[in-house]
Amino acid sequence: MMKFATSFIILLTLMVTTKADVDPHDFFHRATQSRANMFASGMVTDNSAVPVEELDPNFWRKSANDEINKRLADKPNTNIAKNIIFFLGDGMSLTTVTSARILKGQREGKPGEESQLSFEKFPYTGLSRTYCANAQVPDSACTSTAYLTGVKTNILSLGIGPSVNYNDCEGSMDPANDLTSLYDWAQAAGKSTGFITTTTLTHASPSGGYAHVANRMWECDTDVRSYLGDDYTSDCIDMATQLVTEEPGRKLDFIMGGGIGKFLPKTMIDPFGNPGERSDGKNLLSEWQRRHDGGVFVSSRKQMNAINIEQTTSVLGIFQSSLMNYHLHATETEPTLAEMTETAIKFLRKNDNGYFVFIEGGLIDYGNHANKPGLSLDETLEFAKAIELARNMTDPEDTLIVVTSDHAHPLSISGYPERGNDILNINKIGYDKSGVHYATLNYAAGPQQYLDEYGNRIELEGQFGDPDFVFPSYISANDGVHGGDDVGVFASGPWEHLFRGVLQQNTLPHIMAYAACIGDGAKACD
Ligand SMILES: *[C@@H]1O[C@H](CO)[C@@H](O)[C@H](O)[C@H]1NC(C)=O
Ligand SMILES: [Zn+2]
Repeated sequence: MMKFATSFIILLTLMVTTKADVDPHDFFHRATQSRANMFASGMVTDNSAVPVEELDPNFWRKSANDEINKRLADKPNTNIAKNIIFFLGDGMSLTTVTSARILKGQREGKPGEESQLSFEKFPYTGLSRTYCANAQVPDSACTSTAYLTGVKTNILSLGIGPSVNYNDCEGSMDPANDLTSLYDWAQAAGKSTGFITTTTLTHASPSGGYAHVANRMWECDTDVRSYLGDDYTSDCIDMATQLVTEEPGRKLDFIMGGGIGKFLPKTMIDPFGNPGERSDGKNLLSEWQRRHDGGVFVSSRKQMNAINIEQTTSVLGIFQSSLMNYHLHATETEPTLAEMTETAIKFLRKNDNGYFVFIEGGLIDYGNHANKPGLSLDETLEFAKAIELARNMTDPEDTLIVVTSDHAHPLSISGYPERGNDILNINKIGYDKSGVHYATLNYAAGPQQYLDEYGNRIELEGQFGDPDFVFPSYISANDGVHGGDDVGVFASGPWEHLFRGVLQQNTLPHIMAYAACIGDGAKACD
């Protein structure tokens, strides 16, 4: 390999020096003009990686025909959506979707590129524009506000309009600035409501619909005190308290996720052995129980599976002190996203008026922030499993399922790896200018550049394989950052055909409300 790499460099040097009249950045031009096969270096030059059936051109003609016929057979579904299931893959960029699809196929022993995630089979797809009122690249708070309330707001804000500035408690507590959400609209229509997250109950994504705060970090009173300092007053109500005592939070019928610490006083030890985080001495779990006669609190998978669905009127499940674990690191006591989804649907479908449930795969984002695609892609596959289960358990005639993401991550899939090249490994045939391999997946920013003392990239072959391996990034940062590109929207069920084209993120809940005839805007039944 080194011999090959060295001759590559020599050739490249020769070309640059003998073709001085050609733009040195125009690699394609140089390659075609000087030495045709130079362009193919770093690329596969035979068809040994092609699955046998694909060698026949009729394979491609048939697959194209199948895709056309599937679309021709599709009739507009203009039923009223009795139920809405809103799946949110946090930080699930389109490159994350593509890579996860490849990983799925590779886990099944196939090349992978031809594979499909459950929600990629949905009949309608669009793009969502994710910028926020004051930010080009958003966070999970302003985006949550957009896709749950239908209004774009400022970065770090939840459930309030963009006229309120960051950390302005007075502004955020003024009811005039409060936004109503899909939870409120569904409750007003007599539907059951709920949410599930693999992060914490007070994390940004689910709370854009129930909290009204000018800082997403105000999760419990201790957090509010630390962010407001001398300006702290007890009028500034933390998110955990809002969830349990205010509308629409206190009317939610089904809640599951992590983050019990924000609900318990520091003087109490939670079921996972850690102290609570509240300074005001409040036990919000007791408060929830007091308000929910017939409600059940569970803190393990076993307890969750033992819930008597018929006799229980509301469910609160909290499975960790803070975030739930990545699926690959989860303990026996933590249910999977699909298991929580199954319980939610069985419970919520008891209501003849239907339900709205928000289900978040929240750790896709964490895996991408850590530059660990081994984890983020696995989380994406868990997310896809929960969606498949939800589609199997419901009827597209009366249940709208929408799958999207809040924002992207700058994960790139690059080089010219061979078909079926391990998506979580080095590109076996591609080299950089110095003859060093590179991974197919890379991030813009993150903790590891893998440079030697002279700033040159080091060879990483043989280092991959552990799902916790940190992939390389270009910009040195403690943590990966979000991306500003559009994310996908995938829809199945009543009015699925409205989720097409390039949409503003804040239009999504308005379409859901239209399909289900809820809320104050236009409705399918008008
Ligand atoms: C969904 O249904 C299909 C077809 O019956 C089945 O093959 C698949 O395993 C089901 N998926 C889940 C997650 O239950
Ligand atoms: Zn994030």
